[in-house]
Amino acid sequence: MTKIQSVVRGVGGYLPERVISNDELSKTVDTSDEWIVQRTGIRQRHVAAEGEMTSDLALHASRMALEKAGLEPADIDLIIVGTTTPDHTFPATAALLQRKLGISHGVAFDVQAVCSGFVFAVATADSYLKSRMAKRALVVGAETFSRLLDWTDRTTCVLFGDGAGAMILEAQEVANDAPEKGVLVSSLRTDGSHWDKLYVDGGPSATQSVGYVRMEGREVFKHAVGMISDVVEDVLEKTGKATSDLDWFIPHQANKRIIDGAGRKLGIPEQKTIVTVDRHANTSAASVPLALWVAIEDGRIKPGDLVMIEAMGGGFTWGAALIRW
Ligand code: ACO
Repeated sequence: MTKIQSVVRGVGGYLPERVISNDELSKTVDTSDEWIVQRTGIRQRHVAAEGEMTSDLALHASRMALEKAGLEPADIDLIIVGTTTPDHTFPATAALLQRKLGISHGVAFDVQAVCSGFVFAVATADSYLKSRMAKRALVVGAETFSRLLDWTDRTTCVLFGDGAGAMILEAQEVANDAPEKGVLVSSLRTDGSHWDKLYVDGGPSATQSVGYVRMEGREVFKHAVGMISDVVEDVLEKTGKATSDLDWFIPHQANKRIIDGAGRKLGIPEQKTIVTVDRHANTSAASVPLALWVAIEDGRIKPGDLVMIEAMGGGFTWGAALIRW
């Protein structure tokens, strides 16, 4: 008897060239480096250039992931892009990415779960691979979140940044008793009753405009740690593992205080937690794959490691996935 494992073949990342420090931001809005660092841990954010779109950032990250995997675009038959900032209302950014990669076979679509987009995309790709609907998936989290910001609103504009991360998952058929590898299990949740605590006040159907991010920061904060712990514990229980089995914890990079709170509640030491929020700010769906990319490139994540990814965002949505590298 055999089973299919969704194995990670390569990870890539991309950050736009332009960096805006807290000090630079404090010249245009009433804020300070001290306030931002103390409340969020953020020191700077990358912002896409004029004309640089979400699919462009996704393309850079995807090309790198393909190169790391030793694959060509033609080897991919499933593209899923987690994004809240599509180039256009339609078609899907995944379809535009497919075109930019020069391929026209397979299937490509977006998932909209805001900051949880990449985790939702990984879980979706894993299901496609395990049900033999695809062989190789390009899973992307990409955002030009700066385009959704009201740059005069200091309660939101200091928190976010732009970027993209990409991961290639491959379906590998192995004996049933083969050692565990790849995506072991995922847990996803949504509770739409919280929609107005974190949302964009525009949209094609509501206002025929794009709109700006609106957020009740304290409310988001209040729910975040509990929701994150809920899905991480669910994933651990389903796999019979404990937090002590984890080699790396890759949380969504929204706020250092939320990351610390979740780590404390779950009993995961700081040394096992990957933090990039100081340099990237909150890049929404791109934050988890960017943190993965950084930790692989600097040699922390190695083959055989047990890696927990998690995210929480607008909706509310939240999710976690456990991956054996
Ligand atoms: N600079 C200076 N002062 C500010 C700023 C700023 N950028 N933003 C708000 N303030 C002021 C407020 O006006 C308020 O002033 P007041 O007391 O005179 O009225 C004061 O600071 C305190 O404001 P609060 O909103 O109560 O500040 P809080 O301690 O809650 O911190 C923050 C705000 C950082 C947004 C926090 O609530 C938070 O981290 N929430 C989580 C939200 C988050 O991370 N969202 C990201 C998207 S969701 C996700 O990805 C999970």
